[in-house]
Amino acid sequence: MQKPKQAYFREQLMKWFAQSHRPLPWKGEKDPYLIWLSEIILQQTRVEQGLPYFERFREHYPTVQLLAEAPADEVMKLWEGLGYYSRARNLHAAARYITRELGGRFPDTYEGIRQLKGVGPYTAAAIASFAYGLPYAVVDGNVFRVLSRFFGIETPVDTTTGKNTFSSLAQELLDTRQPGNYNQAIMDFGATQCTPKAPACAVCPLREPCSALHEKKVTLLPVKSKKIEKRQRFFHYLAISHEGKTLLNKRTEKDIWQNLYEFPLLEWPHPSCEEKDIRSSVLWQQLFDGQDVVLGGVSPPYQQVLTHQKIVASFWEVRLPAGAAFNSGNFLAVDQKNLSKFAFPKIISRYLNQAQLTLF
Ligand code: ADE
Repeated sequence: MQKPKQAYFREQLMKWFAQSHRPLPWKGEKDPYLIWLSEIILQQTRVEQGLPYFERFREHYPTVQLLAEAPADEVMKLWEGLGYYSRARNLHAAARYITRELGGRFPDTYEGIRQLKGVGPYTAAAIASFAYGLPYAVVDGNVFRVLSRFFGIETPVDTTTGKNTFSSLAQELLDTRQPGNYNQAIMDFGATQCTPKAPACAVCPLREPCSALHEKKVTLLPVKSKKIEKRQRFFHYLAISHEGKTLLNKRTEKDIWQNLYEFPLLEWPHPSCEEKDIRSSVLWQQLFDGQDVVLGGVSPPYQQVLTHQKIVASFWEVRLPAGAAFNSGNFLAVDQKNLSKFAFPKIISRYLNQAQLTLF
């Protein structure tokens, strides 16, 4: 027997969904490739931010084969600005896997979908339910929030017990006659009604038996046990301008921003770094080898906050005297007019948008 509060939750949620109008281009979509594409783009991204990326990817790569055949740099450029770049690399790798190993057929079971690189339980449940009507409930931050509030669950969501509790409850609540609609309903409800900061409790159709509302705990739920400590890193970039060219590095190490481009980088262990530090660095020696190079000035610090790190970047503008040359070594010497063809981390794009006027 279903518990009455659970049945109420499901019914009210589905009623709300039937009346809610949130037009999204993947609603009603049945092509598993396009559903997968939208779900990968939407991981850790708000719908408003993800929408134009979805449209652009769909336009460039209407089929999984076309995505598989695309050059990696082109895919990264289309992804530029969305963040969490491993999602783009995994998307591309999975497209190649589907094309080459699965004969272009998208997997049609939960386990098969889960095998794709970059697809975790949440995304697999979303694709399986939207594309094939399979009964898998999605569990993500939205679901933790909605369920912890409505049912008054104070178990921290970032613990194994918490994850198990919420997953089992989510699966019990699933409307197995229409799993896709149910999953879309709870996502939309979490994103538009039961929001993190200012939920619309006054007009909420589930307010009557909502535990958090009655116990005045709406802003206290869900509970998280740990706060993520962010590591600060200080990046000093050499924005070199010489005879219409600049130097770029492709980030290939196992670190943030893999496969994106950047200027020659000096990472410094603490915030203060002076001209003499730059000039005495190994990087400087390698690039300019004792030549009389002018350090034009340094930008104000730019900041970018990632999940586990905070990056503070300064850009040192460097000009070489006529007749001088840099040792480009492993760097790419790129025409400044072609800079927009490369995919950069956001912090560098922001700098370039401002510097274009003066430096490049
Ligand atoms: N976030 C992740 N998947 C989503 C979807 N299908 N609709 C709205 N937001 C989402």
